Amino acid sequence: MSEEAPKKKIIFSGIQPTGVPTLGNYIGALRNWAAMQDDYRCVYCIVDQHALTVRQDPAQFRKQILNSYALMMACGVDPEKSVYYIQSHVPAHAQLSWILSCYTQFGELSRMTQFKDKSAKHPENVNAGLFTYPVLMAADILLYQADLVPVGEDQKQHVEICRDIANRFNGIYGNVFTIPEPYIPKREQGARIMSLTDPARKMSKSDENPNGYISILDPPETILRKFKRAVTDSDGEICYREGKDGINNLLAIYSVLTGQTIAQAEEAFSGKGYGYLKEQVGSVTAETLRPIQEEYSRLTADRAYLEQCIRTGAEKAASISARTLAKVSKKIGLI
Ligand code: TRP
Repeated sequence: MSEEAPKKKIIFSGIQPTGVPTLGNYIGALRNWAAMQDDYRCVYCIVDQHALTVRQDPAQFRKQILNSYALMMACGVDPEKSVYYIQSHVPAHAQLSWILSCYTQFGELSRMTQFKDKSAKHPENVNAGLFTYPVLMAADILLYQADLVPVGEDQKQHVEICRDIANRFNGIYGNVFTIPEPYIPKREQGARIMSLTDPARKMSKSDENPNGYISILDPPETILRKFKRAVTDSDGEICYREGKDGINNLLAIYSVLTGQTIAQAEEAFSGKGYGYLKEQVGSVTAETLRPIQEEYSRLTADRAYLEQCIRTGAEKAASISARTLAKVSKKIGLI
């Protein structure tokens, strides 16, 4: 081929280092982080500063940041292929965030649903960071001139406000920022994994009942036990149908993890009992998570290697983000 290959689009995504992700997070988002690395230039960030909007125990937090970094690598994030780093190690995030906050209106931040929800839920700690959270997130994305931001439904409004801020800035100063788009990978569509104890609700790591979710670090016997107890229904038929939330969820997990369609999964279980379905879903899940858990143990035991990846990641991220920050500073007249 004589023509140059088209430039790969840039993807930016961030994850908070709080708690161990669930099977739902894995299916809905994390496994895509690894998959997207071949087709895009990926920038992946452990957003420790966003996590500060909730009070963290310092010793615990320190561990969680390191463990989250290792866990994403165990899920396939490759620090050689992608830019993979920790947000607080790259000061440009906080710097750009301040500048952008001066181009963001009090009113628009007040209307963010996540802010309204979180401040209603935790009236004792409605801090300014919680309020300006979307501005820091906009800085994350815009620093790397990202084209696409893979997000779930709950984060779409954050990408929307990021676009608004970027458009406003570009409108005044010319084309400084790439306007990012929310991106929902094809295979993510419809893969909404529900709680095992209340299948009308999304599976969540903040569920107070740990039987409701599978943590991606749950050992096989815990996984099998949780599926065994999963809430189903009483009609005894294994098929995907409205009103059968529990069975639908089990079939969905099974089909996603085996690569089968729902119809194929229904076929495989026709005439079988719920106990058998639960066993099969449990063992497929345990088998999927086993190599991730093994890699995670290996990585967390190799502190020197992890720290080297973290350092190199921060250097790469710093050099890309410094260019954007310099451009912005110049445009607005800082000397
Ligand atoms: N707000 C995101 C979440 O809670 C995390 C996040 C921070 C993020 N910065 C980002 C996601 C930039 C995508 C892009 O899930």
